[in-house]
Parts: sequence; C-alpha cells; structure tokens
Amino acid sequence: MIKSKIPNVGTSIFSTMSELSAKYNAVNLSQGFPNFSCSDQLIDLFYKQLKMGNNQYAPMPGVFALRAAIAQKTQDLYGKSYNPETEITITAGATQALNTAITALVHEGDEVVVLEPAYDSYAPVIKLNGGIPIYFTLKSPEYKIDWIELTKLVNSRTKLIIINSPHNPTGTILTADDLQTLSRLVHGTNIIVLSDEVYEHIVFDGNKHESVISYPELAERSVVISSFGKTYHATGWKVGYALAPEAIMKEFRKIHQFQVFAVNTPAQYAYAEFMNNKSQYLELSDFYQQKRDYFLSLLEGSPFTVTPSYGTYFQLLSYAGFSTMRDTDFAHKLVTDYGVASVPVSEFYHDKYDQKVLRFCFAKTNDVLEQGVERLLKIREEDFVPGNL
Ligand SMILES: Cc1ncc(COP(=O)(O)O)c(C=O)c1O
Repeated sequence: MIKSKIPNVGTSIFSTMSELSAKYNAVNLSQGFPNFSCSDQLIDLFYKQLKMGNNQYAPMPGVFALRAAIAQKTQDLYGKSYNPETEITITAGATQALNTAITALVHEGDEVVVLEPAYDSYAPVIKLNGGIPIYFTLKSPEYKIDWIELTKLVNSRTKLIIINSPHNPTGTILTADDLQTLSRLVHGTNIIVLSDEVYEHIVFDGNKHESVISYPELAERSVVISSFGKTYHATGWKVGYALAPEAIMKEFRKIHQFQVFAVNTPAQYAYAEFMNNKSQYLELSDFYQQKRDYFLSLLEGSPFTVTPSYGTYFQLLSYAGFSTMRDTDFAHKLVTDYGVASVPVSEFYHDKYDQKVLRFCFAKTNDVLEQGVERLLKIREEDFVPGNL
C-alpha cells in the first residue's frame, strides 16, 4: 500500500477539461497555452545550437549569456541589476522555480500566505515541505486585495507571501499602491515575498507591469519568477528563471542542483540570442490586447457579464446573472452540450469557492476564438438550471 504524500491532490482540472474537450471535439479555451507557433527565428536559433553541438549539460545556474541578457533586461525595465553570477538561475519553467523557491525557504510549521484564486502548484508544494498555506480569499468581480484584512493573517510564523501579477486566473494586476502597501507590511519582518511574474509582458490598456524589483524594500527580500514559455509562445520548452538576492539564491541553488541540476542547453543559448530582439517582449502586450479586444467584441450580446482582463491571456466570464448552477457543472455542460472548454474558477480555491465564473484562454488564433464564441452565443439560459445536467 502506498501512502500518498499529497492525498487530496487528484488530476488537475486543466487535464480533465482538455480530455473532455478532445472527447467532445470542443473548442479548447481551457488550458493556458497558445495554439499558434513560436517565432520561426527562435526555432532556427534552437536548431543552430543543436547543429553547433551545444547538446551537453549547461552550467548548473544556467548558460551565462542568458543570465547576462536577463540581468540587462531587468535593469532596463525595472531599474535594478541582478548579478548574473550569483543572483539569477535558469529553471525548467516557472513551475520548477516555484517548487525550488518554496522547498528552499519553507520549513516544517512555517506559514505561507496564498491569495486565492491561486495557481495550482503553490499549496501542494508548501504542504510537501511541511508548511501551512494560509489562504486569503479574493472575490469576484474585482479580486482586489484588502490589505487591512490580509495583514491580520501575518504573524511571526509567516515565512512567505506569494503574489502573482498579472494574475492567473483573474487577469487582474497589482498597482503601485498595492506594492507600496506590501513594502510597509513586510518592513522589519523576516518575511520573504515569492513574486510570480510569468505574465510580466502581458499588461493591457496602457498600464505598466509593477514588479517587486522596482521596490527596493521588496526586491531585497523577494524571489522573482518568470517564464520564457509565456513570453515567447513556447510553453513546451519549459524554460524560466528566478531572481533573488545572493543569500536567498544560494539556498535556491542548493535545491535546484538536486532537482534538475541544469536546464536544456540549446534552448538557453537560443533564448540568449533571441532576447537581443527587444520588440518580441515589448510588443507582446499589444499583441494580446488585440486578442482580448477581439474576443470581447465577438462576445457582445452574450449573456455573460464581462470585466475586461487587465493582463495575462485569460478572460473571466461570469454567468451569475442568469444561472445558479455550480461552476464545475456549468463548465461540464458547456463542453458536452455546446462544445466549448473553459476552466471553472472554483478550482483555484482550496475550498472550491463558487462565484459562477469561468476562465477562458484567448491565446488562440482568431478562427478558434470565432468558433468558440459562435458556440457561446448559442447558450440557452434555461439549459443552465441547477440539476439540469
Ligand atoms: C501563474 C503561473 N505561474 C507559473 C506557471 C508555470 O509556468 P511554466 O510553464 O513556465 O512552468 C503558470 C503557467 O500556466 C502560471 O499561470
């Protein structure tokens, strides 16, 4: 008999919805990845590296040229330089970086503040390390942080606060005010901030991404995580990185070396060269804003309530105005009867808090968005009466 270390974790909702989507030949707007290719130039650079023979282990912290390129970008965009020798590590996607950071920092009995809805990997990894997730609930439709309430969760056992902006699944962003308040909250404590910024280059409507890096009080106690998968439409390459002050990064690397030792070498060289082309990430917000706007324009006249996403490639749609069905049932019916796959947002809460909201990914070609919305516009409200499965 095998004793599970995480007994309450089953198959993720993303896999479940994608399987259902395939079974019912649905338009899959559930899982968060583009259905279009990454740049040909990036593919050529990868191929070039393979042919050049860069096929053996990379240095443990990552290819130096890539770390140097990240240091330069970070300086240019957020006004602070990280030392590529000691403060930057390349990881197997943001998922590994999150796991490594939590494993390096969380000890038995430590508390970690997790704002929900939350990306699904945070809590299981905290628990695997003997930590205790302390959940803070963000509510539809604004999902704003009430800092006075959040402060009540912080005490001498608090080791980490995990933040994520732009935010998956809600598409909200943290403002300068939020980060200043967080700075004051952690001032004089030993709390470390784990800042998941994988959507840093996808922010809409002229807003700018507020990184903890730009706030000295936060930067000196934060691990910042990003992902090339999101920025370069290459989620399958699984390359990301972590930035942190040297003392934290030293502990991070102790874990990293035994989790993966090093990350895919040719991909790292390819990214190092590709990063010279700044327009690729500087123009990403415009690219996805057009997709968001197109998706929303197609949805005009639908029964859903929409608060436009501020960032990421996700859009929430609320059906609270016309149905009281549970969101998991609603999402299930949407796939089986209408052929559109989405993700019920209650799945991002440990207690499955249901606010009648679904998450849709708009990182899709226009024809797929059109097909998906055409089906959504056919929704008959009377089909979505609870018990009417
Ligand atoms: C908020 C958030 N963090 C981390 C990740 C993981 O990124 P990666 O694919 O680089 O592991 C994702 C991917 O969906 C995400 O949405």
